[in-house]
Amino acid sequence: MRKRFALLLLALTSLTLAGAQTITVKKAAFQKGDNMEWSKPSFDDSKWQQMDVTRNWDDQGQVLNNAFGWYRVHVTIPKSIADKAEQKETILFDLPKMDDAGEVYLNGKLIGKTGGLPGDKGGYRSAWNAPQSYALKLNEAPINWDADNVLAFRVYNAGEPGGLFDTPVTIHMPHRTDGISFAFSEQRGKKDLCTVTLGNSYPVTQKGTVVVTVSDPETGATLSTTKKSVSLKKDKTVAVPVAYDRSKMNAINVTYTDGPSGLQLTKSYIPKYILTPPAPLAPRFNNAPVFGVRPGSPVIYRFPVSGERPMKFTSSNLPEGLTLNAENGALGGKLERRGNYTFTVTAENAHGKASQEFTVRVGSQIALTPPMGWNSWNCWGLSVSQERVMSSAQAIIDKGLADYGYCYINVDDAWEARERNADGTIAVNDKFPDMKGLGDWLHANGLKFGIYSSPGDYTCGGYLGSIDHEKQDAESYNSWGVDYLKYDWCGYGREFDKEKDKNTAAYVRPYLLMEKYLREQPRDIFYSLCQYGMANVWEWGEFVDANSWRTTGDITDTWASMYNIGFVRQAKLYPYAKPGRWNDPDMLIVGKVGWSSNLRDSRLTPDEQYTHITLWTILAANMLIGCDVSQIDDFTIGLLCNNEVNAVHQDILGKQGKPVVIDGDLQIWERELSDGSYALGIFNLGSENQTVDFGKYVKQLEHGSLKSLRDLWRQQDLSTSELSYFIPTHGVKYVKASFK
Ligand code: GLA
Repeated sequence: MRKRFALLLLALTSLTLAGAQTITVKKAAFQKGDNMEWSKPSFDDSKWQQMDVTRNWDDQGQVLNNAFGWYRVHVTIPKSIADKAEQKETILFDLPKMDDAGEVYLNGKLIGKTGGLPGDKGGYRSAWNAPQSYALKLNEAPINWDADNVLAFRVYNAGEPGGLFDTPVTIHMPHRTDGISFAFSEQRGKKDLCTVTLGNSYPVTQKGTVVVTVSDPETGATLSTTKKSVSLKKDKTVAVPVAYDRSKMNAINVTYTDGPSGLQLTKSYIPKYILTPPAPLAPRFNNAPVFGVRPGSPVIYRFPVSGERPMKFTSSNLPEGLTLNAENGALGGKLERRGNYTFTVTAENAHGKASQEFTVRVGSQIALTPPMGWNSWNCWGLSVSQERVMSSAQAIIDKGLADYGYCYINVDDAWEARERNADGTIAVNDKFPDMKGLGDWLHANGLKFGIYSSPGDYTCGGYLGSIDHEKQDAESYNSWGVDYLKYDWCGYGREFDKEKDKNTAAYVRPYLLMEKYLREQPRDIFYSLCQYGMANVWEWGEFVDANSWRTTGDITDTWASMYNIGFVRQAKLYPYAKPGRWNDPDMLIVGKVGWSSNLRDSRLTPDEQYTHITLWTILAANMLIGCDVSQIDDFTIGLLCNNEVNAVHQDILGKQGKPVVIDGDLQIWERELSDGSYALGIFNLGSENQTVDFGKYVKQLEHGSLKSLRDLWRQQDLSTSELSYFIPTHGVKYVKASFK
């Protein structure tokens, strides 16, 4: 997040005004290098190169990596714009973005900053896409009215492209309507409602008209129109509820027309819509019919079966050594000898019964399909506690997510104490009163227990790491019943800096060491590497017997982050995934997240969330829910619990998908499935809705002509001849296709 300055009063909304007096400048003087003298208005920049501030410097003949460049914009600001303004408290500077980080000076005074510069306390941090809108107090702003002003930008770029880009310099006084805000909220009831709330934060009464339409973006049809005249005093709001259909995409469009000026503000919002059909009440198995375990390791597996409870589980030919809990479908016990053990499990309730032939494969390999579960990081961050973990785990059971295979319950960073016990064993902090109790409780429910550490002295969150105590820690994990270890490089960076030869072996070393001790434990511990993809971890993850490896830095709940991690960074990694070995593009960012006690709804739009889950199933990625499950809504449950979508993720062939068509903003990714068919994600990565002629691309897939086609989210068969699909911006059509 951008640092805030005393001068900055408010973050501006995207509602800028048309028609009011606005000063716009696109040209700047430019010089590479770094010199604080260049912030001063008196400096002579007449010999500097001219540059356009809306396009990166690479486009204009400058390639500067790990380097600084300065821009100086000269602008005359007429006093009349302030005199004529209705709102005289602030003046607004909307500025180009700074790639990757930088500072802005107005007549020599620092007025804004994005990211972190190399010399800064926290070190370099990119904020290349951060908006730069600054509201300066009019009576404090260092402005030379009716004369030359210099806005100087000190920009640091780490890697191409770099420099200022995006928008020109725009300076204006706020208009009355800048005080208007729009908020949208959704309510479920007999009729589903979306309430548009109009607010006014400015000390003038806003008089105008608000019009809210509900439309179907697919056909362009307007489904309803609601009009209202408003007279809004400061800090007052007015609510306009409108009905919409949440079983498909609807758009709620609001236009506010300011009475006196006729100025219009508009905003569109897509409420969450649920495509996944409700599960039948009768039992249905939602799992891959196979489970891998090592000889002698405890079998911990809960049959994921949806349907009304109570449900009764029975088995036939259950191998000796295994047990099946009749109430919750949890498989227990152990098998000492290698081999495939096949038996039948039946689930029965008041509405019917279902059976599955299931194989426990006792051998060297675990995680035959990619892991599914929950991790505390994306919701609670360092504020995680045992209570919070148990509350999400309980919700995984109560809300039916365990019936879809979500079984790992992983505690991320911040369970560790500040100091080890006197005997060197790892100690927990007081948020985790009973680790063994937690493990036992999870196992009794057929769930699995995950934990987090670092090969270094400290974790990323500043808690104790495992260095020099790897054996002891692995033993502690075993004594608590740990089934999953996320081992996060972080603090090891300091150790690594001491290495003379920074070759691949140096990256491998700490992971090999922990692997040795994990494998000495009499239980299966899923080994999850987290070192952000350094030294092509996908090439040697298997060598350290890792079950998955993070391929990138941390994900966050924005389109840019998900797009970059999911689409750009995974595209070439498909050859490295297979049963037992998975690429991990990081945890899910749906539901309520926040990396702290302050949770919020994921900032991804509903379509971006469909894209996110679709892509992660195609990628055979770890599917670790990152939200507080106790607060999960039915939209998010629909995203996570679609049995046909999840069947792609859990497909036993274990192949990772790849992009097969890239046509402008359209990408088609395919994943080959064990039944000979293909899962195809048809993604619209552009910022406009599109109607896609899928027929055009079938040939390019090179599998022959279409035999059958099914919409996976909607669970409906599709025509094999009518192939035109509406795909919303950042959205997806997810199909399963077989060919002849
Ligand atoms: C790193 C990891 C995250 C999380 C935090 C915990 O940033 O990549 O997933 O585990 O550390 O501090």
